[in-house]
Amino acid sequence: MSDITNAYIPPAALTGSMRDFRVPGGIDLLGRTEGFFKWQNLRRQNGLWPFSRATEDGPSTVCSAQDDSGNKMRGVNFASQDYLSLSAHSGIKATAKEVIERCGVHSAGSPALVGNTSYSVKLERKIAEFLRMEEVVLYPTGWAAGFGVIKGLVRSADHVVMDMLSHSCLQEGASAATNNIYQFRHLDNDYCRNILTKIRAKDKENGILVVTEGLFSMDSDTPDLVGLQQLCHEFNATLVVDVAHDLGCLGEDGRGHIGMQNMLGKIDIVMGSFSKTFASNGGFVACKSRAVKEYLRFYSAPATFSNALSPVQAATVLKAFEIVESYEGRAQRDALMANIVSLRHHLRGAGLDYYGDPSAIVCVKMGSEGLARLVSRRLPELGLVANLVEFPAVPKGAARIRMQVMANHSEQNIVKAVEILKTARQQAEVEFEDHKRPAQFEARAVA
Ligand SMILES: Cc1ncc(COP(=O)(O)O)c(C=O)c1O
Repeated sequence: MSDITNAYIPPAALTGSMRDFRVPGGIDLLGRTEGFFKWQNLRRQNGLWPFSRATEDGPSTVCSAQDDSGNKMRGVNFASQDYLSLSAHSGIKATAKEVIERCGVHSAGSPALVGNTSYSVKLERKIAEFLRMEEVVLYPTGWAAGFGVIKGLVRSADHVVMDMLSHSCLQEGASAATNNIYQFRHLDNDYCRNILTKIRAKDKENGILVVTEGLFSMDSDTPDLVGLQQLCHEFNATLVVDVAHDLGCLGEDGRGHIGMQNMLGKIDIVMGSFSKTFASNGGFVACKSRAVKEYLRFYSAPATFSNALSPVQAATVLKAFEIVESYEGRAQRDALMANIVSLRHHLRGAGLDYYGDPSAIVCVKMGSEGLARLVSRRLPELGLVANLVEFPAVPKGAARIRMQVMANHSEQNIVKAVEILKTARQQAEVEFEDHKRPAQFEARAVA
């Protein structure tokens, strides 16, 4: 074990959260960032800041990486989002090279002007057809799509009713659009109905946008989309579903939970990201009318005032859709699901519990933030790259190590990752108990 995993840890590095610094006070906008940096640095100096890491040669199943202090690590990689392992697929790379040769690397314009390319125009049609929707608007990132669709459609007198665990892009979009935001209990359609009833009892004039996800990115669970869409029809509301984590990689044909719930073409608005399965940055909003598409293109700022996907990004995603729809895509989905099932099986065998239903997101329960940080601190030297997730990204006391599975992970990768996690957890539990005893702390501090 290295020095860092034996060292005395100041309690402040094991407690507190990023929430503590979200609203810093004082007139000095720059100076008041210091509080966060001090806390972050304390964690960094104690090997407890596992964020902002960089891979050396891309998100492969085994990768070399370095943390933001330059400490190097090499290990099995369950921290990257490349569910069908398409980011280094030979066909994707060949397409990217060809398009770079032909078009260069930049769109050099917004989609509202001349930033579109023949690839982006084809990609819009491809996604519309894939989802059985009429029209698609592309965005530079998935985050921009989530933010942009809400801010683009909702005005201050309107209402946004959202699952309380909706992604940051959806929350931020709602906050930017209106003060009339209501959160319903996670996946609870009855709760949502109560809110809609109350809103419509008072307001029959303005719009209501109901927001949820096809697969939640921290809990790996899914709403009853049929029920939610029916509710929206009943209350004259509009449903938007974020399919960032299930489109392309879940379901026999890759249509995710919308496909599995037989809702293709029946959801009002589908929003997604390319960055988890389709080997590129970028996002989209799919809708059912040209009017909505044109409105978003000119009233949804990230689609209007931000440069379009580059030709190489659009062509990459187009090629990825081609693979997703092919026999090979189905085989990759099968391989991914076999890996997911295997990882969950081995975790359970090792006495490690996880959240949710089988998907590429397998979040292993740790509980307290302090314990989770100590577990995470041991992973690099044991040879596992996996992400720590803690409050406020998830509820307090529900910290977890998020494993993201790829189709090309081998059984050995999985077995090794679970062994490492088990060891790290056992060692960290002992250490955490130790740190809970103040006398022990003090003795070590003066030693
Ligand atoms: C549910 C969800 N929506 C949207 C996004 C944003 O997508 P991107 O990273 O492509 O901007 C993410 C990514 O983390 C996500 O998890």
